[in-house]
Amino acid sequence: MSEFAELKLDGKTYKLPIITGTEDEKAIDIRKLRAETNYITLDSGYGNSGSCQSSITFIDGDKGILRYRGYPIEQLAEKSTFTETAYLLVYGKLPTATELADFREMLTRHSLIHEDMLHFYDGYPSTAHPMAILSSMVCSLSSYYPEWLDPHDQNQVNQLVPRVLSKIRTIAAYSFKKSIGQPVIYPKNSLDYCANFLYMMFAVPSEPYEVDEEMVKTLNMLLILHADHEQNCSTSTVRMVGSSDANLFASIAAGILALWGPKHGGANQEVMEMLETIQRNDGDVKKAIEMAKDKNSGFRLMGFGHRVYKNHDPRAQVIKKACDRILAKMNRVDPLLEIAKRLEEAALKDSYFVDRKLYPNVDFYSGVIYRAMGIPTPMFTVMFALGRLPGWLAQWVEMHRDGEGRIDRPRQIYKGETVRDYTPIAQRK
Ligand code: ACO
Repeated sequence: MSEFAELKLDGKTYKLPIITGTEDEKAIDIRKLRAETNYITLDSGYGNSGSCQSSITFIDGDKGILRYRGYPIEQLAEKSTFTETAYLLVYGKLPTATELADFREMLTRHSLIHEDMLHFYDGYPSTAHPMAILSSMVCSLSSYYPEWLDPHDQNQVNQLVPRVLSKIRTIAAYSFKKSIGQPVIYPKNSLDYCANFLYMMFAVPSEPYEVDEEMVKTLNMLLILHADHEQNCSTSTVRMVGSSDANLFASIAAGILALWGPKHGGANQEVMEMLETIQRNDGDVKKAIEMAKDKNSGFRLMGFGHRVYKNHDPRAQVIKKACDRILAKMNRVDPLLEIAKRLEEAALKDSYFVDRKLYPNVDFYSGVIYRAMGIPTPMFTVMFALGRLPGWLAQWVEMHRDGEGRIDRPRQIYKGETVRDYTPIAQRK
């Protein structure tokens, strides 16, 4: 196996080292390319560029494999809890019983946000998108921890990680309560992470609320499936912002904003809106398929396609299997699930989708389950953010610990005007 790639440029040969990952992934190391050759590489969309070396998540898009720290996603979704998976992602190992209990305790003890922050919610219009609220509230959290904002102080980071995980859950639930005009419900320390979130979302002060175990199990599964996905758009954003030594809150707030986009986490909301439109059009899935194939329509089949998965998205398979079971257990029938299934079936028979290797992604079925749980559509992307949080934290921590400490700063090929003299306004045409 060669250790170098050879590059011939302007009559000279350069040796570029080959880097091999633990799963035999290969990269050509071009870190010295510009210094030695004065050339850069061009890769808009970064489909062929590795931005880092990471030990957190492994994906094989051709085989439909996703593993966190080596553990297959299917096993974690079935057997783990979100808290345990968050620990695994951030600290690199499955916790012992004591470690898990300590971690849980930290999450429980730090679930409140400063009472003053409750007033912030009053400043938003009732139409505000919960992702706009979430990102600004997370950024605002930084002003309450001025003593813990040094990304290079491991002790400060260790204090912040569980606080961020716990408080963002509270902020997300409060955003929902504010959006429907109900009083916020303070967290209950006797409840675990997911149960506590559901309690803060759905309890009201006027009557007792029992957290449904099936909902807790389902939420654990959904959040685990979203917990990390290596160098996707929002995670790369967290790393990039973090590379400037911006504090943890600022980096996570930036990740939330990147996730909001409809080509990324915002797709789960768009999937539901698309299914509702199809329902209003008498369930006509063919029309949606034709529109998605027509490049002039500006419409894409939401929840379909993925930059990395070109065979199947393993997360979508887990969710699809769970969908029927969960809806039956919750005693719900959702016509949108039937539409989603028919849409998938029609698309997977169509050569447009087959040729382009477009399959349902994680967002295609997740909305149907969230809907059954009573979570409104605008909150879907917030749920994704909650799930992705451990991944962002783990990647941010890894970048500062193992990275090269350089600010991320891509280059470009300039295609604009060459030098020209300033023209006085009277002489301009
Ligand atoms: N519907 C119709 N056509 C599509 C779709 C789609 N959902 N996705 C890709 N295509 C087509 C493109 O038009 C393009 O066609 P062409 O080769 O004829 O020009 C081809 O498939 C390749 O598409 P790209 O945009 O180059 O693929 P890319 O890897 O850049 O994009 C993405 C991946 C953004 C996910 C895309 O498939 C998409 O927009 N999907 C819908 C949005 C979505 O579901 N996003 C969630 C992604 S998963 C996540 O973030 C958790």
